[in-house]
This record gives sequence, structure tokens and C-alpha cells, in this order.
Amino acid sequence: MGKCIFITGTGTDIGKTYVTGLIVKKLRDNCRNAGYYKAALSGAEEGEHGELLPGDALYVNKIANINEKTENLVSYIYKEAVSPHLAAKINQLPIDFNKIETDFTRAKTKYDFLTMEGSGGIISPLRWDETQHVILDDLVKKLKLHVLVIADAGLGTINTAVLTIEHLRARKIPIQGIILNHFHPGDLMEEDNRKMIEEITGIKVVATVKKGDTELAMDADSLAALYA
Ligand SMILES: Nc1ncnc2c1ncn2[C@@H]1O[C@H](COP(=O)(O)OP(=O)(O)OP(=O)(O)O)[C@@H](O)[C@H]1O
Ligand SMILES: [Mg+2]
Repeated sequence: MGKCIFITGTGTDIGKTYVTGLIVKKLRDNCRNAGYYKAALSGAEEGEHGELLPGDALYVNKIANINEKTENLVSYIYKEAVSPHLAAKINQLPIDFNKIETDFTRAKTKYDFLTMEGSGGIISPLRWDETQHVILDDLVKKLKLHVLVIADAGLGTINTAVLTIEHLRARKIPIQGIILNHFHPGDLMEEDNRKMIEEITGIKVVATVKKGDTELAMDADSLAALYA
């Protein structure tokens, strides 16, 4: 059974997929058998034949040269660009967490280093109906995952990064580190953001990513060591 890391972010569109692409690429370029998995994706575009395309998964699959079959990358794909719990309600296709566990375990068995991307931020409802109330953090706990937090480098990030980490701590979810995206080295505020987030939370910023980066500025061994 391989090791795993769960990628969460301080919100949607923060760069989880972009950074995940760099992470998986770095591992694979350094001879690690690394894969990708996402439980639920909403806001999928339609392909030529009306099929739903899981953009995040297809992006990482391509950029990191995983060459995995689409159906093994994501368990639930919804068209509507809304939270998975609402997309599931609209489509009357609720998430079955046994299926997710099966798909996740299959991926974890196939790959030595599995990177699982979350939907939105850590408080993203996955299922909210008469029978079940499940939020993303519940799934992270159920699968016993350790997380890496992706945050923006700019204004407002101290608040969102610290709140995300405080919540993970309250739920007793292990945190492996933080990556700041859209970072400008030498920028007074962004360098201070990095320092303040580290000092307030006691969690290390393990890497920073600049706009358009094609390589993760971190050595593969240190990156692999974050997987649990
Ligand atoms: N460092 C970067 N350089 C260039 N483009 C970036 C960078 N980070 C993010 N982007 C772009 O910003 C957009 C949002 O990023 P991304 O899709 O990775 O966010 P996300 O957190 O995965 O969103 P979601 O919650 O929908 O999964 C994408 O178009 C992505 O290509
Ligand atoms: Mg994404």
C-alpha cells in the first residue's frame, strides 16, 4: 500500500490543481511511482459527445505524465459549478462513501505516492441530505489522511491560512506543511506573510510557487517525506 497526501486549500481556485501538477511531476521526474485521485469534482466541462470532463484530473494526468485512465482519477463528476453536495442534489447522484473508499484504496495500492486533491476548501460539503451529513474534513478523517495546505501568497492569506490550519487542528488532522502560491520572492508583504503564518501556526511553508512555474522548487526526497 502506497503513501498518501491530501491537498487542501484556503478556498476554491487557490491553485490546488496547479500545485498538485507540479508535485506529482516532481515525484515522477525523480523516479517515484506517483499518482492522483480526486473524490468529487464539480464544474466539469462537456466533451464532444456530451461526456463530462474532469478538468483537474486531466490537467494533472497530462502535466505529470501519469497516463492513468480518466475513470480511475475521479469518483464523482458533476457539471454544475457548485459545491459537490448541491451538484449531487441537483443530479440526484449522492456520493457513496464506500465507493470513494474503494476507488481511493485501489489508487493507493497502484501508486507508491498518491496525491489526493480536495474540492474547494476544507469545509466543503460533500453530502447533505436526509440520510447523511458529510463535509470534506470528515472524509479526510475517515481515510486517515495527512494534509498539505495550499494558500495564496498575497493580501488576506494570514487570515485564511491560519483559520484553515486552526480548523484542521481542531479536527485532529495532521498537517504536513503549507505551500504559498503566486509568490513573489523579495516582496515585503509576501515574505512577511510567510513568516507570520509560520510563527502563528508553527507549521512550515515547505515551498513557494511563482506564477507560471513549471518545476516545484523543492527536492524530491523532502517532498516524498511529506507523504504518510
Ligand atoms: N502558479 C500559477 N501560475 C499560473 N497559473 C496558475 C497558478 N496557480 C493557479 N493558476 C491558474 O489559476 C486557476 C485556478 O487554479 P486551480 O485550478 O489550480 O485552483 P484549484 O484550487 O484547484 O480550484 P478548484 O477548487 O476548482 O479545484 C487555473 O486556471 C490555474 O491554471
Ligand atoms: Mg482543482
